[in-house]
Amino acid sequence: MARSITVAVLFSGEGTNLENLIRRFHEKRFGDRVVRIAALTNRPEAGGIARAEKYGIKPVIVDHREFATREAFDAELVERLEAMQPDLVVMAGFMRILTPLFTSRIEAINLHPSLLPLFKGARAIEESFRSGMKVGGVTVHRVTAELDGGDILAQRCVPIEEGDTLASFEERIHAAEYELLPAVIADLLHLSPSQG
Ligand code: GAR
Repeated sequence: MARSITVAVLFSGEGTNLENLIRRFHEKRFGDRVVRIAALTNRPEAGGIARAEKYGIKPVIVDHREFATREAFDAELVERLEAMQPDLVVMAGFMRILTPLFTSRIEAINLHPSLLPLFKGARAIEESFRSGMKVGGVTVHRVTAELDGGDILAQRCVPIEEGDTLASFEERIHAAEYELLPAVIADLLHLSPSQG
């Protein structure tokens, strides 16, 4: 019988990366293993909830506004994630700063839309676009308590072209994300495409 492996995906907004991961991996077989995507969000109004539900996945909702401190929110997050028994935890557009309470208990990777260590934080695409640089890019890195600061696992450059608008650049950033994040996940979990 196939062994099931769980990838827990955390998101806060539209969830287009979540949907991309669901399409690539959810209920897909790799050799003797089947991947299951579980999802968690901190925003009950996140667009990604409906995206996940289309595939029969009901995201866990932990609304950060219901917690008095970051630590209290993180403690609940850790508990809900541990209950999922994930083989890998992935942050894809999860817009919360995490405390050591979380990072000491959960090993996770994060997707960030810039060439780190440049342009950390929540406005990375716009800051890259306005920087005067000829390239931006995307990064997947390990999560630590330092915002966007853990070891870099993989990066892709995205050129900033003559005539680009913020919207056209952003579209290519997302296209790069949809390739890079699944590639890193497949690598970390040893999911060879030929087994898919
Ligand atoms: C993605 O571009 C992701 O890289 C970014 O949020 C977007 C989420 O889009 N993350 C960060 O900026 C983290 N600092 P999505 O909800 O459509 O996947």
